Amino acid sequence: MDVEPTVYQIFTPATPANLAFIEREEINNNLVNALRTPGKQIVIYGHSGSGKSTLINKKLERLYENHIVSRCMQGMSFEQLVLDAFDQLSPFYTTEKNQKTTNSVSAQLEATYLGIKSQLSGTSLRESGDKSTRALPPQLTLQNLARFMGQSKSCWILEDFHKINESDRALLSQAMKVFVDMAAEYNTLKIIAIGAVDSARQVVKYDHEMRTRVAEIHVPLMNLHELQDIIIKGGELMNLRFDSSLSSTISHYAAGLPSICHTLCLNICVHLDFNIPSEKLVNIRKESLQPALKMYLDEASDTLKMAFENNLKQSKVKKYNNPELIVKALSELPQEGGTRADIYKRITKYEKDYPQGNLTKYLKQMCEKEITPLIRSSESSGKYAFIDPLYRAFAMALVSITHSHDPHELIDWNDAIASFIKSFSTEELTKSIHTYKILYATDK
Ligand SMILES: Nc1ncnc2c1ncn2[C@@H]1O[C@H](COP(=O)(O)OP(=O)(O)O)[C@@H](O)[C@H]1O
Ligand SMILES: [Mg+2]
Repeated sequence: MDVEPTVYQIFTPATPANLAFIEREEINNNLVNALRTPGKQIVIYGHSGSGKSTLINKKLERLYENHIVSRCMQGMSFEQLVLDAFDQLSPFYTTEKNQKTTNSVSAQLEATYLGIKSQLSGTSLRESGDKSTRALPPQLTLQNLARFMGQSKSCWILEDFHKINESDRALLSQAMKVFVDMAAEYNTLKIIAIGAVDSARQVVKYDHEMRTRVAEIHVPLMNLHELQDIIIKGGELMNLRFDSSLSSTISHYAAGLPSICHTLCLNICVHLDFNIPSEKLVNIRKESLQPALKMYLDEASDTLKMAFENNLKQSKVKKYNNPELIVKALSELPQEGGTRADIYKRITKYEKDYPQGNLTKYLKQMCEKEITPLIRSSESSGKYAFIDPLYRAFAMALVSITHSHDPHELIDWNDAIASFIKSFSTEELTKSIHTYKILYATDK
């Protein structure tokens, strides 16, 4: 019999999904085609947490023999990435071979690899400032790296490529060109660059001739159906049945982010003490969301509260609480936010004489907050939106609580945030949850 998974293997808020993975039809074909087409380079982009890594992991599992993953970090240079990839290829060229090297080409390649390796491990430590970095041996060209990868039937994944220095990012385009050229010789050779940005062009700026050689794949936030599918799939694996009203509420709060969906489901299970799949099918009701949300807010609330407080507090009393009006308007707009005009229209529903100039000024100010950003503008769409869908969810709840009486009433945000968080710790609810298993256990 298979070993039973634990809830942590099913609901995976911080790692790529595996057991509760759901297919994403609209991206699937493009991605699979691009992976199968020799010479096609790939750029995957989209909001952080939208599911880029999960998707590529799952597809590579099926379509590729090997792959090399280089994780980019802030301030890393392209040279360091080349070295990283080179190091990771080591097992293909240095392990004891049980079969003899089959032909002279691969024998020669192996010799080249080992030659470079010994140069690297020898005298090539060079001091630069505090850090000692390894110099790139002249033989470690992009062509040679491509050969090493091609021979090992690997593709090269560059995770979080947006973190690389701007100046070094241009080198990716050159590397892709080399990989395109060498794909005639090595069919599986390709670079897959992944970036948490709004457009493929922010990941790599390639030139005209490369246009048809690069597949740009956008991974959008998840829609409500996809999020619900995660809940259903994870629920089945846990032998739990999430009420339809509960699963639609979770999907709503997730605000497009599968990671929040996993978080809330995991919290519900942990709170109800389901660490492994239940023996009997158990119904999970809507009430169990409250403690799960509270667990979630407890972890995230510092950042959230700080962002809201810093953006909304006013040093002097002004005629309008401008940031508050903006937040309220944005919370009523869809996930992708709205243009300046959309926001203005919302605000004038409540404040019909609101000056245009105020909106311009405060939108700009709020987008420039570097330490505790709450909203951002997107150049590609011309829209303003919460920087994180999570903030939108928070704002929606906040607004719905604080504006339930008089829409013109000014909000004391500190109070509102505090009471909002408190509203999730109602003792009764927490207590009632503990009797869940008994109350809602049903026979299969
Ligand atoms: N297709 C999917 N099915 C189920 N869960 C997913 C899926 N894609 C992503 N997730 C979950 O969403 C979260 C973020 O996914 P990840 O792939 O790391 O996003 P990204 O790389 O875009 O930041 C993780 O918790 C992961 O488990
Ligand atoms: Mg990722």
